[in-house]
Amino acid sequence: MELKTDFSLKAFNTFKVEAAAARYVRFDSENEIVDFLGRNFLDGQRRLVLGGGSNLLFVDDFDGTVLHPLLKGIHVIKKERQHVWIRAMAGENWDDLVAFAVASGWGGIENLSLIPGSVGASAVQNIGAYGVEVKDLIDRVEAISIHNPEKVRFFPDDCRFGYRSSNFKGRWAGQFIITAVVFKLSRKPDFALAYPGVKSAVEKLGAMTLDNVRQAIVSIRQSKLPDPALIGNAGSFFKNPVIDGHALCGMLKLNPDLPHFPQGDDRYKVAAGWLIERCGWKGRSMGRAAVHDRQALVLVNLGGATGLEILELSEQVNGAVQAMFGIELEREVLVVR
Ligand code: EPU
Repeated sequence: MELKTDFSLKAFNTFKVEAAAARYVRFDSENEIVDFLGRNFLDGQRRLVLGGGSNLLFVDDFDGTVLHPLLKGIHVIKKERQHVWIRAMAGENWDDLVAFAVASGWGGIENLSLIPGSVGASAVQNIGAYGVEVKDLIDRVEAISIHNPEKVRFFPDDCRFGYRSSNFKGRWAGQFIITAVVFKLSRKPDFALAYPGVKSAVEKLGAMTLDNVRQAIVSIRQSKLPDPALIGNAGSFFKNPVIDGHALCGMLKLNPDLPHFPQGDDRYKVAAGWLIERCGWKGRSMGRAAVHDRQALVLVNLGGATGLEILELSEQVNGAVQAMFGIELEREVLVVR
C-alpha cells in the first residue's frame, strides 16, 4: 500500500490533463484494502475509485481520496469441456487479459481487443465494441464494500448491466472497490462477426481464428481511434443516443444515410459520431482540445489542454447536435470535479 497527499493524477488519466488528488492510496492486495477501510481513514471524505483512468475527465483538483486498486493476477479457476473460467484481478490491464485469452485459444472477448483501461473498470462500464459487451462474458464480480469492509460477490443479474452502464456506475457508485472479475470463456470459439466491417477485415487476414479476429479488431481500432499513449483521449466521449422508431423515421427522411442499429423494442441506436460530423465538428479544435479527425465521437487533448477546456469543447459539440437534430448527447466519460 502506498499513501500520498497532493498527488498528481496526470499519469493516471488517459486525457493527460493535470489534476491533483488531496489523497491517493494505491492498493496491491485485497487485504490491504480491507485493512485500510477497517481503520475508517475515509470517514466523511469524498472518494473516487480509479481504474485505468481511460473514462474520466478531471476538470479540477480532486479534494477527496483516490483509491487505486492495482491488484494483479490472472488464474484459471475452472475448466469444463466447452468453457473455461478465468479470474482476473481488477488492476490487470484489460488488453493484456484479451491477449492472454486469445493466446490460450479461449473465445469471447477477442472483439474487445485494445480497449484501454483495467479489468475492474470493464465491469463498471460494461465495455463493449464490435458487437460484444463484456456483460455477456462475466460470471461474477468480486468487490469489497467501502462502508463495511467485507468481501462481496455479485452475479450479472445483480449488476444491472446496460449500454456502458451498471449498478457500479449508478446506484452503487462509490460503495464498492472491485477486486476481481471472473469471466466465462469458450474453449470452442463462436465468433461475433456481424458488426459492419469485421468479417471482411478478418477474411483479408486469412482463416477465421481468434488471432486473426484480434488482429482485425486492432487494425480497425488503430485506423480510427487515437492511441492514448500518443494523444490524450478517453475513447468515445458521448454515448450513441437511443431513439424510438417514430423519431428515427423522422430523422431518416431528412438524413437517409444516418447509421442506425436496432436494439429491439422499437428502439434504435444512432451514430453520435455521424451526427457530430454532420454538424461540421469533426477535426475542429478549440484551443488545445479537439474533435478527432477520424472519429468525431472522440475528443482529444492536443497537448496541454485543461479538463475544463475539453469539457467546454464537449458542450459546444453537444449544443451543435441539439440545434441541428434536437438530440441531447449523454456523456460516456465521467466528469470529476
Ligand atoms: N461515423 C461517422 N463519423 C464519425 C464517426 C462515426 O459517420 O466521425 C459513423 C461510422 O461511419 C459508422 C457509425 O458512425 O457508420 C458507427 O461508427 P463506429 O463503428 O466507429 O462506432 P461508434 O458507434 O462511433 C461505438 C462505441 C466504440 C466502439 C465502436 C465499435 C460507443 C459510445 N462507442 O462507436 O466504443 O469501439 O462502437 O463497436 O458506443 C468507447 O466506448 O470508448 C468506444 C470507443
